Amino acid sequence: MGSSRPCFESGSYSEIMRYHLLRVIVCLCVALFGREVAAMEYIGALPGRAGDTTSLDGEWMVIPDPYDQGRLDFLSRPRGDGFWQDHKPQDETQRVEYAFDADHTLHVPGDWNTQDERFFFYEGPMWYRRSFEFKPDPAKPRVFLCFGGANKVADVWLNGEKLGETHEVGFTAFQFEVTGKVHPGANTVVVRVDNTRRPDLVPAMVTDWWDYGGITRSVRLVRTAATFVRDAHAGLSADGKRVEGWARLDGADSAGGEVRVRLGDGAQILADTNEAGLARFSFDATGLGRWSPEHPVLHEFTVETPGDTFRDLVGLRTIETRDGDILLNGEPVFLKGICIHEEAIAHDGEKHGGRAATEADARELFGLAKELGCNYVRLAHYPHNEWMPRVADELGLMVWSEIPVYWEMEYTNPRTLDLAKTHLREEIGRDHNRASIIIWSIGNETGDRDDVTAFRTELGRYVKELDPSRLLSAAMFAQQIREDGVLKKLIVNDPFGAVADVLAINEYVGWYHDQPESITGVEVELAWDKPFLISETGCGVKRGRHGSDRAVWSEEFGVRFYERQLGWALNLDVCDGITPWILKDFLSPRRPLYGIQDWYNRKGLVSETGEKKDVFLTVQRMYGECGR
Ligand code: GCU
Repeated sequence: MGSSRPCFESGSYSEIMRYHLLRVIVCLCVALFGREVAAMEYIGALPGRAGDTTSLDGEWMVIPDPYDQGRLDFLSRPRGDGFWQDHKPQDETQRVEYAFDADHTLHVPGDWNTQDERFFFYEGPMWYRRSFEFKPDPAKPRVFLCFGGANKVADVWLNGEKLGETHEVGFTAFQFEVTGKVHPGANTVVVRVDNTRRPDLVPAMVTDWWDYGGITRSVRLVRTAATFVRDAHAGLSADGKRVEGWARLDGADSAGGEVRVRLGDGAQILADTNEAGLARFSFDATGLGRWSPEHPVLHEFTVETPGDTFRDLVGLRTIETRDGDILLNGEPVFLKGICIHEEAIAHDGEKHGGRAATEADARELFGLAKELGCNYVRLAHYPHNEWMPRVADELGLMVWSEIPVYWEMEYTNPRTLDLAKTHLREEIGRDHNRASIIIWSIGNETGDRDDVTAFRTELGRYVKELDPSRLLSAAMFAQQIREDGVLKKLIVNDPFGAVADVLAINEYVGWYHDQPESITGVEVELAWDKPFLISETGCGVKRGRHGSDRAVWSEEFGVRFYERQLGWALNLDVCDGITPWILKDFLSPRRPLYGIQDWYNRKGLVSETGEKKDVFLTVQRMYGECGR
């Protein structure tokens, strides 16, 4: 029996020893060199602070800077008078060779690529500037500047003063305390965002998605009391019987303080903070509705101190695995899903929808997923904006959330590992209250070389350290077993499977290799008795292109593909869920085929303008009929 696998051969003793030795080396590197920034604790649940928030969304003045002259001189030396100073000539004798002005703006939140044709392929630094009026509020003396996200490397200045560190993670939120730096009257924020790909970043040089640059998520100015509830958590204990949680105060009076916790119209309890300002609480969960896709019950969760009230909406549910099943609230669940990139649907004659960033975008994308018959979505391949898990909570969609550890990266570079961990810390730091999120994924199609497996294993350990309450997975490859060239079996034995709670593979039988009919009858063998998902499968269809069902890109080929793929997967006992790739056609620099792709990956069930393909109806029908 021949076996072919995109990577990794089952190892001999020496290879296994080499793998474990390498794992030790990676862990030592992390211990010695990995720059583990102190766990970032957000000002949580920002929508709950609407009363104390000033939105800085809107038109920001911009200067593209392809040669990085905004911070380097002609000999590429750091310059002292960079664009962050927002200099203006005092009179006609003064020479200043840059200017932010109202005729050159971009909308925030948003990517630059789809807002201005000149920036479609632009990869490099972009300078953003906006000013705002500030009026002090003695009751809320502390002020924070909060970014939902910027892709990919961001530096921020307020009134010419650099704030904190460079943020090198493109899909998570970051915040700066600006108390004492923001002053009454006019203030100016300047942001340098650089989306240049780098081999040491996460992801690195090649992705099958558009590397949208910009301040791609909302920006807020948040005021708080001197001592406030920085963040708080509430969830169900593993046995589902108790609500357990914590609240962290920040400020001079945070130690030895008292908080009043309320959940729904049920219990309210008092809890005391320790010397670190942390209060833990636990109370009986009887009578509090459980969250599920069928009944997405959310409870008002508040934590009050004398000067502040933290508000969030939380669902209560348990998620676990047992005997190869995924159990939601103790009952086995089959995950009928779809993969989604964070890309909006293009409307009103727009060519591109661009980076999704708003609540309306989330409702539109998830509206299609619900219409498809989904109870689950895989948010690929990076943490999405805050509205996606929040709206999923409300609509009743379980979520696989993922960090962009993707394809080839510098897996032996401690800085790369540190950046991957920063993604996890900031993703989990923001979304720990989202009941919809049931799976944290630490990557996609990385292959399983020893160095990659050591990298992923360390990330898996870190996920469990940050949040042991959710399931751990990654999208992996399967080993293909053939007889005389005919595909007979898929073996799921990627070594990360030993660490994961849920096994998951991407397979494109019938698109990238073989014919759609080849999947019929293929066995799946799992190396561990764990739940198993098909995290990707799909084919390219150009909407409205008709022909033989043997003609790739035709609507007819797509129907032929999905009838066989889902006919197989939905009847596979060992399969606990599937997320076809993908809801909507999306931009990718890897998809240039003029007339068919036009820079779009065409595996969507709907086009970039949201028009349903025949495959949408096929998947919808088969999900409806499958009885799982
Ligand atoms: C891979 C990968 C996706 C990619 C897809 C495709 O499985 O995970 O990011 O877009 O295949 O080739 O369309």
